Amino acid sequence: MSHVFISHSAKDFDALLELHEALRAESIPDWYVPNDGGSRDLADQSIDDAFAMIILVSASSVRSKSVRKDVERAKARGLKLIPYQIDKARMNGFFKHEVQPHLRYSSTMPDGMEKLVAETKAAYKRKCPVMAVMNLKGGVGKTTVSSQVFGAWQGSLGGRILLIDLDPQYNLTQTFFEMDIADASAAADKSVISLFERSRIHARDASSPAESWLTLSIEPFAPAPREKLMHDLMGEGSPGGRLDLISGQFEISKYAFATDGAALARIKQHFLQTVERYRSEYDLIVFDTNPNATFLTRCALEVADRVLAPMHSDVYSLRGVRLLNQVINEQIEPEKRPDLSILFNAVSRSEQSSFEAEARNGTYDGKAGFALSKALLKAALPRSGHLQVKAPQEDQPAWKQLVIHSGRGGGLKPIRESLKAIALELKTLLEA
Ligand SMILES: Nc1ncnc2c1ncn2[C@@H]1O[C@H](COP(=O)(O)OP(=O)(O)OP(=O)(O)O)[C@@H](O)[C@H]1O
Ligand SMILES: [Mg+2]
Repeated sequence: MSHVFISHSAKDFDALLELHEALRAESIPDWYVPNDGGSRDLADQSIDDAFAMIILVSASSVRSKSVRKDVERAKARGLKLIPYQIDKARMNGFFKHEVQPHLRYSSTMPDGMEKLVAETKAAYKRKCPVMAVMNLKGGVGKTTVSSQVFGAWQGSLGGRILLIDLDPQYNLTQTFFEMDIADASAAADKSVISLFERSRIHARDASSPAESWLTLSIEPFAPAPREKLMHDLMGEGSPGGRLDLISGQFEISKYAFATDGAALARIKQHFLQTVERYRSEYDLIVFDTNPNATFLTRCALEVADRVLAPMHSDVYSLRGVRLLNQVINEQIEPEKRPDLSILFNAVSRSEQSSFEAEARNGTYDGKAGFALSKALLKAALPRSGHLQVKAPQEDQPAWKQLVIHSGRGGGLKPIRESLKAIALELKTLLEA
């Protein structure tokens, strides 16, 4: 779990509670410990797990030893500091040096709290970006990229990664598990529908939202713990690390047929809040998506910080990314709008096609309706037999389906290098 740590003096409890509520409304997890000498270990531990520290700057906190210790610990860990001034305290010595240079917001500013929360949210998103692999064209490699590129990311660059199968065809899930395992998981609501509606993994007495196509449950629910919802793909015998999957299912198609707009809006809200919460447990969240524009597309676009669109070197794919860019710009409000990166997939390994070369030099920017040449990743994914779908075998663990871990074989090395190069380029983009 990662959270924003709030360093405060015991005298500022009201300000602390107000801040806590404001963060909660934005689904940002926070943590604070009683400001007394006895909680030092607990405070240090929570600071080590935090993605940022908010310091409530007040006349009493600038004199507090434990606030000073919090800030020292944060500094040693290279943690982002976000001070927030709540009274007319004057900073001297240590605070003047370590805290004042970061101070930008105060409770006397009309939108001080809003700005504080917005900056905290931006730090939270950077800690765990959300990426949607999407193209409004089928068969371009969305599922292959979702599994193989991000599997290679986890294997070579590390980090805790969550894959979410948001396509009602659930091919991503079938990349790792046999059909009957995938279906058994969905039958227990240990699947993607539990991001949208209260299900049996949230409460024993709940009914399964997958069983009823005609009703939508708008009851709120707390996000299920990892062990109840996620499949650990890096199981026994694997090189380790965390790569999890929320498995897919056909039943999320029901939202495409729903006519109750108000209920759909609530369900989307639950989905967005739940995914926001899961950012605290991962360093990257990736959605594999369906090829047609639906309610699910909107959900993915609203939660994503970046869209990764695989495309083939042909005009049909070009049309798919043109439509995708149009949907992003016309349907998603500016403040929620994700960035768009495009990846050439299934390119000839030996030579660059003339289509690819032309796309890179800007020839198709007009046809695409945006600067396609600038959105293209430099790395591309070659066409390779190693990336063709194979049904998982009964005796093979999920992680063995990943090309990065699948053993030896002719031609594997260059494919692995390509997968790693794409992962590295994406990571660099996200950190920029
Ligand atoms: N680089 C590649 N080299 C060889 N085969 C590939 C490559 N990328 C994808 N494929 C194969 O192409 C087919 C389509 O890929 P994939 O299922 O990933 O596409 P998709 O965009 O997810 O499709 P859908 O729109 O149906 O969800 C699969 O059989 C896959 O194995
Ligand atoms: Mg797919």
